[in-house]
Amino acid sequence: MNTPKRYTVTTALPYTNGPIHIGHLAGVYVPADIYVRYLRLTGNDVAFIGGSDEHGVPITIKAKNEGVTPQDIVDKYHAIIKKSFEDFGITYDNYSRTSAPIHHETASDFFKTLYDKGEFIEESTEQLYDAEANQFLADRFVVGTCPKCGNEESYGDQCEACGTSHNATDLINPKSALTGNTPTLKETKHWFLPLDKHEAFLKEWILEGHKKDWKPNVYGQVKSWIDDGLRPRAVTRDLDWGIPVPVEGGEGKVLYVWFDAPIGYISSTKEWADREGKDWKPYWKDKDTKLVHFIGKDNIVFHCIIFPAMLKAEGSYIMPDNVPANEFLNLEGNKLSTSKNWAVWLPEYLEEFPGQQDVLRYVLTANAPETKDNDFTWKDFQARNNNELVAIFGNFINRVVVLTNKYYEGIVPTPNSLEIVDEETLAAVKAYPDVISSSIERYRFREAGQELMNLARLGNKYLADAEPWKVIKVDEERTKTIMYVALQIASALATLSEPFLPFTSEKLKNILNLNEDAANWNEVKTKDVLLSAGHKIGKAELLFSKIEDETIQKQLDKLEASKKANEAANKAVEPQKATITFDDFTKLDLRVGTIIEAEKMPKAKKLLVLKVDTGIDVRTIVSGIAESFKPEDIIGKQVTVLVNLAPRALRGVESEGMILMTENAEGKLVFVNPDEAKIPNGLTVS
Ligand code: MF3
Ligand code: ZN
Repeated sequence: MNTPKRYTVTTALPYTNGPIHIGHLAGVYVPADIYVRYLRLTGNDVAFIGGSDEHGVPITIKAKNEGVTPQDIVDKYHAIIKKSFEDFGITYDNYSRTSAPIHHETASDFFKTLYDKGEFIEESTEQLYDAEANQFLADRFVVGTCPKCGNEESYGDQCEACGTSHNATDLINPKSALTGNTPTLKETKHWFLPLDKHEAFLKEWILEGHKKDWKPNVYGQVKSWIDDGLRPRAVTRDLDWGIPVPVEGGEGKVLYVWFDAPIGYISSTKEWADREGKDWKPYWKDKDTKLVHFIGKDNIVFHCIIFPAMLKAEGSYIMPDNVPANEFLNLEGNKLSTSKNWAVWLPEYLEEFPGQQDVLRYVLTANAPETKDNDFTWKDFQARNNNELVAIFGNFINRVVVLTNKYYEGIVPTPNSLEIVDEETLAAVKAYPDVISSSIERYRFREAGQELMNLARLGNKYLADAEPWKVIKVDEERTKTIMYVALQIASALATLSEPFLPFTSEKLKNILNLNEDAANWNEVKTKDVLLSAGHKIGKAELLFSKIEDETIQKQLDKLEASKKANEAANKAVEPQKATITFDDFTKLDLRVGTIIEAEKMPKAKKLLVLKVDTGIDVRTIVSGIAESFKPEDIIGKQVTVLVNLAPRALRGVESEGMILMTENAEGKLVFVNPDEAKIPNGLTVS
């Protein structure tokens, strides 16, 4: 496209059914923020739009599991997610939510417009139904085999393995996610968007128009779906959480979450424009606007086929210029998973690495899954921090600032005539903005981030070669020139690092005392002097600090604990023992007791000798729990005691009963149902 007049940049609206983890950040939000910060630094008019996706089945399932309302769930996670974005410096112009009235109105009106234009097919068809749960089974309420790729865990609306969108009735062997039942069919009316009607348009626009500039992973998927043939897709659901279908016959039905959510980009833009006193329309309707959607690969079908078909059907909107979808980030070789707690959650990261948002931004950019799935490892995190951010970027800045303070009381010295190496270095610095721009504009953020680090390398090497700390002893005038050149590089870094390392850039501008008059992106290219002689800089402050092995080990241990917990949760439950009669049961005399004394049995690793107040008496019980508890920690604890077990001697101590315990996920014994532990159902109590 010609030089755009303005940009509308959107990021996938996260489902508010959990916090955000590093996969989200790496795949969508960090690259989008780099792009937007860069656009602003180069003087563009940008609307950076985000928000929370608060409808859809995952949220109702979560609410049900926790015994709260869907509204409770979305309120909780909207706040957490919004804060994470602020904490990590994702600079939205507006962050909205799909429960906002402006969104309900916008999505409702959009639906009505298509309805009035006759763009829907209205049809009663048989849909999957769970008679026991008394509910139609749409989307994540049903699981079955994907008709395209054979994945056995496809959802009703989309297969996460191959990304394909389908109708729930296309699933092979569908099963209700609510009861496990095989669904029956029940007739119900819905509105369908005939994607086939827009096939020719999509072919021309994407397959012919964007063969060169869209990422191969995005283009390839889109082509495969179009080649398979597109079919009408239901855009309404028999659910009660969502935006009510605003037309006759729509009572008790809501819009499909993937119909309303992308309209959320438009509503959020409206909310922003209203607040800023702007007109939202050019950002969505002027052909000189460049619209870019940042998403993960599981969202491709919705952003490249369904939403564009909706926009086309409406008729007055522009199409996205690009949809730079990323692949997935793995963690230590395994797929990120919320249910398995295999993730690095942003709120947790911030607690454990306070003030180190830029480190994560940097590492995630360096490892961004741009062309293929990629792996995040804590060792790599540590190495990139210690060997790149600390040893190159931080070291260079620190030397420049410390030496300038030491030699010149912080005042930028007046250079003498430049030597060839100085001129070459300054010329090389001037080339960086274009090099980095070119990568960013082609959505190659990894490459862009590495180029930024190359600029720091250039500075580091310049200083290491010029050795001002030696030269100062023999040639004070030459030293001034060296320090002057190094200070120009530091200043260029302050500007060019902003999209990638915004907190560091801010800190560096402070140290260099640059705040208001830091050069902008283009000035780094064009201006000969970024820091003039006579300017006073501030004192040195560390930009990054070394991450020790212990810190990394702690993270690895945490993941190991998740792994163990999963293994335990998946461990087959022991089969039930032979049936006993009620009389057998009543023979057991189980009492509540309190442990009043506990000490280790000498020379026995596993045994504790307890004194237990059973209410009948205080008696001695020898228990094999010493590997799980320290004696002093269990005094005062209440336990279930089998009091009429025949006494027996253990290591010479007579044990008069048994206390009941179970194992938690890590194989540690726990009291049955203490407040803090969650015990999987079905474990034997023994
Ligand atoms: N909530 C979806 C997800 O997390 C993304 C929605 S993007 C939007 O996969 F376009 F619908 F907003
Ligand atoms: Zn599939």
